[in-house]
Amino acid sequence: MMGESRTGMKKQERKRVARVKRRGLLERSADADFRVFVTRPIAEPQLRRLAAMARVDLWDDEMPPPQEELLARARPADGVLSMVTDRFDGAAIRALPRLRVISNLAVGVDNIDLSAATRAGVAVGHTPGILTEATADLAFGLLMAAARRIAEGDRYVRGGRWRTWGPKVMLGRDVHGATLGIIGWGAIGQAMARRAAGFGMRVLYLPGPSAARSLRGARARAAGAGSSKAEPRSLRSLLVESDFVSLHVPLTTATHHMIGAAELAAMKRTAILVNTARGAIVDSQALAAALRAGRLAGAGLDVTDPEPIGKDDPLIESPNVVITPHIGSASHATRLRMAELAVDNLIDVFEGRRPRHCANPAVRMR
Ligand code: DGY
Repeated sequence: MMGESRTGMKKQERKRVARVKRRGLLERSADADFRVFVTRPIAEPQLRRLAAMARVDLWDDEMPPPQEELLARARPADGVLSMVTDRFDGAAIRALPRLRVISNLAVGVDNIDLSAATRAGVAVGHTPGILTEATADLAFGLLMAAARRIAEGDRYVRGGRWRTWGPKVMLGRDVHGATLGIIGWGAIGQAMARRAAGFGMRVLYLPGPSAARSLRGARARAAGAGSSKAEPRSLRSLLVESDFVSLHVPLTTATHHMIGAAELAAMKRTAILVNTARGAIVDSQALAAALRAGRLAGAGLDVTDPEPIGKDDPLIESPNVVITPHIGSASHATRLRMAELAVDNLIDVFEGRRPRHCANPAVRMR
């Protein structure tokens, strides 16, 4: 007990020292006209880089600013360095007439109303590319964990239930040689396919709307490229044929609840669903019902709807679900690169250019 509270105190003290350091760093913030609100502490070298160019206001807390505080602090700013937890809907954007850029520390921008931002002349920066491999690593990890009951096995051992080796203890599903269906054939979906190839899996994919307009076109392109043995499928065939289904589409009005009761019913009873994209792509009530009824073998979820997931959410109760707290891109190196890119995007605007990774390239900037 004593030890625990000492560890807790040490952690508090480390946090306090880090905060003081960041404050010192920002006191030297440039006496510039360009003002930036940073909604969470990011990697210090990048904070320093930003502070050399702009006047930086930092929300120095583990938790996101409440919506009112977000708007109040963003009001005098030209730019915001935001997180996926910060909501910029139409009303918020209209309430920020000085704002020129929102630089999201994420590839996904579903927390921002892109059309409203474009109409208002606000550029939206994001961080594609650099988190592709880290996210695919985690997606594959969740697939393995759900298939081979890794998290459940860990709970079993720690709970003192491991009494002996047994021929029927903790049986799971084979990953090698199984069929993986990938929904969303973008960078992360294709990185997932590369991992699957190493496990001798057969890969099916649903072509994205911009990648291919028709299955026939996608097949021709895949054969022409010769680089991937992945086979394009319609959504229904992919669901019917796959042992694992992994989601890699952005959350839009078209993909909201794309996986609902009907889609889950089309999947094999032995199949496992993996979601590292956005929680609301799946109808979570339908997923919980399918798992409860044994109509699906399991799920690996890095994203939920809502986030964080409620303590009494039925998915928490399911032993055959592995849930992680939205950490697809959460490796030291990847988060460092994301911070660098998010700052690059802001500096681009500060220097009069469009962000180098702009999610609304049609914007005519203020
Ligand atoms: C993203 O980049 O969109 C992730 O969900 C946050 O890391």
